[in-house]
Amino acid sequence: MKVYSGLAGIPVVKSSISYIDGQKGILEYRGIPIHELVENSNFLEVSYLLIFGKLPSKKEYKKFVDDIKESLFLDEAIINFLKDIPSDTHPMKVLQSIVPILATFDKNKDVLDEKHHYSAAVNLLGKVPTIIANWKRISEGNPPVYPDKSLSYAENFLFMLTNSLPDKKIADMFDKCLILHAEHTINVSTFTAIVVVSTLADFYSAVSSAVGSLSGRLHGGANERVFYMLNEIEDESKIEDFIREMLNKKERIMGFGHRIYKTYDPRAKIIKQFLNEISKIKGVSNLYKKALKFEEIGLKYLKEKHIYPNIDFFTAVFYNYLGIPPQFYTCIFAMARISGWIAHCKEYLKDNKLFRPTQIYDGGHNIHYVPFEKR
Ligand code: COA
Repeated sequence: MKVYSGLAGIPVVKSSISYIDGQKGILEYRGIPIHELVENSNFLEVSYLLIFGKLPSKKEYKKFVDDIKESLFLDEAIINFLKDIPSDTHPMKVLQSIVPILATFDKNKDVLDEKHHYSAAVNLLGKVPTIIANWKRISEGNPPVYPDKSLSYAENFLFMLTNSLPDKKIADMFDKCLILHAEHTINVSTFTAIVVVSTLADFYSAVSSAVGSLSGRLHGGANERVFYMLNEIEDESKIEDFIREMLNKKERIMGFGHRIYKTYDPRAKIIKQFLNEISKIKGVSNLYKKALKFEEIGLKYLKEKHIYPNIDFFTAVFYNYLGIPPQFYTCIFAMARISGWIAHCKEYLKDNKLFRPTQIYDGGHNIHYVPFEKR
């Protein structure tokens, strides 16, 4: 028997939610190329597409968006709970711990019932952005900003986060970043979600576990570290030495490389265009300049190994432009990925099988207990 370390390359599900061709740099959601969705759609419509398997009719779309807007608000008990958490707690930890509490307020408890899938989707898509934004305000010692239903999904999030109305063009680009984060086949956090739901635990448990899984620096946590990495470099003249030193020490360059993409990440390409656009509105920031130079030099060393910048490399710079503190970057990834996690949980339950891999035991046998005094 062979151990499939990290399950690399082992199919564990049949899925029609998304498709990646890592050699050609193709990403599709329900068969639609990602750039077409970014050009024509918005995050909530894409969420519907992922979760329900088709583009919504006007009526279905309106109901979905209205239901999500209704669920933007948090129960005061949750806001009070946030106020009691130590202010230096990482936002991903806060998110991971609040998500299961949302289940308490959902009357549709049966994970096998479609009603649970719908209400969990609507609740999580509605309330997670509010949790993140409220936590930012509360952890900085400010009162939370309540949701504004008259704003678009992205505008409302940025409004709650910063207490000021965002530029429409910038909010639109942010919405498209959410589209790009929404789904990515069976990555580790999505796998975590379906493993949890295979036990028939509810969608809130699945999403909370997925948030924990996403927080690691080899997965969603990379974008936060990209910021620290770029920030640590004094100026562009030091980039080459920095990269060489990291590679000599066999350290991973954050925001570079991908398990599946062995060419340029198509999502990174789109966010790079957004950076070009936002730099025209807000000016060319130091971080942006450094990132472009870093990419150029990084590719000089890594391209031959098929290692390219990934989505996290450029979102770190984009979110910095929006004035978002780095510890919140992975939360934004999580708030978008809810759609993908829910879509996969819903799909997996159609033909559920409890996950139970096996192991190759390599310990001893018939070893006898030794009392403390004889150890
Ligand atoms: N920086 C430097 N070297 C890297 C690298 C990186 N970011 N990513 C991979 N490599 C190198 C490895 O050191 C290894 O080199 P070797 O063959 O000389 O030992 C080789 O590429 C293959 O590494 P492996 O770990 O097998 O690749 P992987 O496909 O499993 O790695 C990631 C995928 C994402 C884990 C990896 O690229 C990484 O750690 N990236 C940084 C974190 C990150 O940005 N994560 C977000 C992903 S969206």
